[in-house]
Amino acid sequence: MSAEKTIRAVANTKKQRGSQAERQAIPVFLSAEETQPARDFHASCPVYAPTPLVPLPQLARELGVGHLLVKDESLRFGLNAFKVLGASYAMARYLYAKLGHTPEGMSFAALGEEEARRQIGEVTFVTATDGNHGRAVAWAARELGQRAVVYLPKGSTAERVEAIRSLGAQAHVINGNYDEAVRLSEKVARERGWQVVQDTAWEGYTTIPGWIMQGYATMAAEAREQLAALLPDKKPTHLFLQAGVGSMAAAVLGHFVAEAGGEELVSVIVEPHAANCMVLSAEAADGEPQVAHGELATIMAGLACGEPNPVAWEILRDHADFFVSCPDFIAANGVRMLAAPKAGDPQVISGESGAVGVGLLAALMNKPEYRGLAKQLGLNEESVVLCFSTEGDTDQDSYRRIVWEGACSADDK
Ligand SMILES: Cc1ncc(COP(=O)(O)O)c(C=O)c1O
Repeated sequence: MSAEKTIRAVANTKKQRGSQAERQAIPVFLSAEETQPARDFHASCPVYAPTPLVPLPQLARELGVGHLLVKDESLRFGLNAFKVLGASYAMARYLYAKLGHTPEGMSFAALGEEEARRQIGEVTFVTATDGNHGRAVAWAARELGQRAVVYLPKGSTAERVEAIRSLGAQAHVINGNYDEAVRLSEKVARERGWQVVQDTAWEGYTTIPGWIMQGYATMAAEAREQLAALLPDKKPTHLFLQAGVGSMAAAVLGHFVAEAGGEELVSVIVEPHAANCMVLSAEAADGEPQVAHGELATIMAGLACGEPNPVAWEILRDHADFFVSCPDFIAANGVRMLAAPKAGDPQVISGESGAVGVGLLAALMNKPEYRGLAKQLGLNEESVVLCFSTEGDTDQDSYRRIVWEGACSADDK
């Protein structure tokens, strides 16, 4: 685990310097129009409901920002994380393509019809995961009548493994990190004729991760609509987006850029110090993605990824404003703040990977040493800050240690 206790921030000079022509085109595949089939598919799932966008006015006042709103993904499909939006859409689209259908009008029910199942036959989906994506793949495979095999990195908790097995999938913990699990799943798929459904891309493997990102855009689209309904005369000024491989952050930012231009929006991409591939990539400033090596040991299990998704990286490189990495206690503080809200604010059950944005915002606004950085980010009493609590208490033991016992505090040695 990284011992570094301060926040590390890199301003994305390329974006600031770059002329419109130099910058990558708007990521059209994440626009409302292009992602409509994903929204329609999600809406056709019997368990679908938009997750709440939770205003926290008392915390906003305490921190000195105008508004703070948190998208609560703990309620997504009963799976406690946003990830199923990507896996379910990508897997359904893969099966739809097997039927020779285009995605327009795609529905969950159509894939369950007897004739469709007969034509599709048996498919085994395989993936690597820190937990949440594997659970989502297992759920979608079960719902779509197919099989799933899931590889998890060394150190994955029994609770995360069991959550996948309880949905009928095979789950194996390997003796390697997340990036090694990704490579293993790809190798096994090649040998056995299985289908990889991975939430990151590599050379020659971009279609399914692209569909996964389009699935994540449902969360962004819901948030935009909910914000417009809650604060009709305001626009978001700041997006705090946490990154593992960067697919989620790029999907959300890409959707906002495609729909609203993104020029007046400050986006902050947040990572753990121990898996800071985005910060390393931004610091290198040569436009290429960089790899964070080692065990990637952090309490933010969902963000413990050392290799950026190259497609996501290009979107973040060209459109994000700041890349920030944090010590683990910043995330733990976010978990605690959302678990025990100020009087008048609702509680949000937010896991370590979900709460880091709020934890970072609090550190920036509360700690004198970060006053300059908060100013550079343009955070003030006019700001409308949007955070995404991408998971609930997906590791309940860890959640309780943090909330009940105060584990992972700034004073820990
Ligand atoms: C809860 C949670 N939040 C955020 C992320 C980051 O998503 P990405 O890997 O697309 O950057 C993950 C990834 O697993 C996650 O599980």
